Amino acid sequence: MNVRITGTGSALPGKILTNAELERLVDTSDEWITTRTGIKERRIAVDGEYTSTFAAEAARRAMAMAGARPEEIDLIIIGTVTPDFPFPSTACIVQDLLGATNATAFDISAACSGFLYGLSIAEKYLRTGAARKILVIGSEVLSRIVDWQDRNTCVLFGDGAGAVVLEASEGGHSLLSTHTFSNGAFWNLLYQPGSGSRNPAADSRTFDERLIYLKMEGNDVFKHAVRAMEEAAIAALNANGLTSADISLMIPHQANQRIIDATSKRLGVGPERVFTNLHLYGNTSSASIPIALDEVNRQGIVTSDNKLLLVAFGGGFTYASAVINW
Ligand code: UT7
Repeated sequence: MNVRITGTGSALPGKILTNAELERLVDTSDEWITTRTGIKERRIAVDGEYTSTFAAEAARRAMAMAGARPEEIDLIIIGTVTPDFPFPSTACIVQDLLGATNATAFDISAACSGFLYGLSIAEKYLRTGAARKILVIGSEVLSRIVDWQDRNTCVLFGDGAGAVVLEASEGGHSLLSTHTFSNGAFWNLLYQPGSGSRNPAADSRTFDERLIYLKMEGNDVFKHAVRAMEEAAIAALNANGLTSADISLMIPHQANQRIIDATSKRLGVGPERVFTNLHLYGNTSSASIPIALDEVNRQGIVTSDNKLLLVAFGGGFTYASAVINW
């Protein structure tokens, strides 16, 4: 059974927040942010824009490209750590927004690996014949869980969404493999302590100690990210009998230019074969890879029969990879 990507889409807030504007919010500088991360600006949702807003728009664009009607969608999977609500799932809200009345819809929580985890689940549904047409979406409004008083984290993140239509079909780009990994030993290096069952949102301590905001031990996460992305990438190459020389384009999770550079160097993929848009959007967690994939697709950056390697790492820890024959 051929599993193919038949449409891609993305949606970003119109509001841009530059490094210069961040200099007025916290004790930081454009120079620090640029040299330590590669980020120059990020998109920020405004009032009335939610995770479902961007997810639905990205999905509509992917469906238009695929020529898929809402009622043909069997499954909607959204990777997100910033759902509209703790429940119901944002995927159910998006189902309603799209009018995808025949779909099953659910969210998955795998942080920055959320899109590739979703792709992996969708692949299994299609290969077993349990679904024929699936929307996989990564969507985040991280600006609403970022602590705008914490310079260690607030300069890093941005909002947006990306989506693909995946189907068992003859046309489109073949998904050759997906691999997913987790390492729960380090769950507390990158997490949102408050608003779950341990530190309920209603407790004043959660608010007073700023537990509602994302926390990260950036330096430790950095080291794990490079090793884990390398491991996920090698698993993907081995499973397909490929070497890094066979990869035309690598699309890594967009968290930090230095992580991307270190990972691609270890893999032997030169910078000319690595796609980045981090400077424009910052780290959009689960949305980063599908936004990049949509840009690669619409800009015609790769031609047919080229191999794409997608690789992600995020809180959990989770990490994942996929190979696409374009
Ligand atoms: O998306 C999934 C996972 N997330 C990631 O992959 C992110 C991983 N981590 C990183 O990208 C990097 O660790 C950061 C960009 C977060 C930080 O870079 P770093 O080179 O690891 O810096 P650091 O945390 O070791 O901090 C170095 C210094 C510290 O000052 P002292 O203690 O040396 O005086 C920080 O307080 O930089 C300081 N610093 C800042 N200075 C200006 C931290 N944030 C800022 C800032 N502006 N925004």
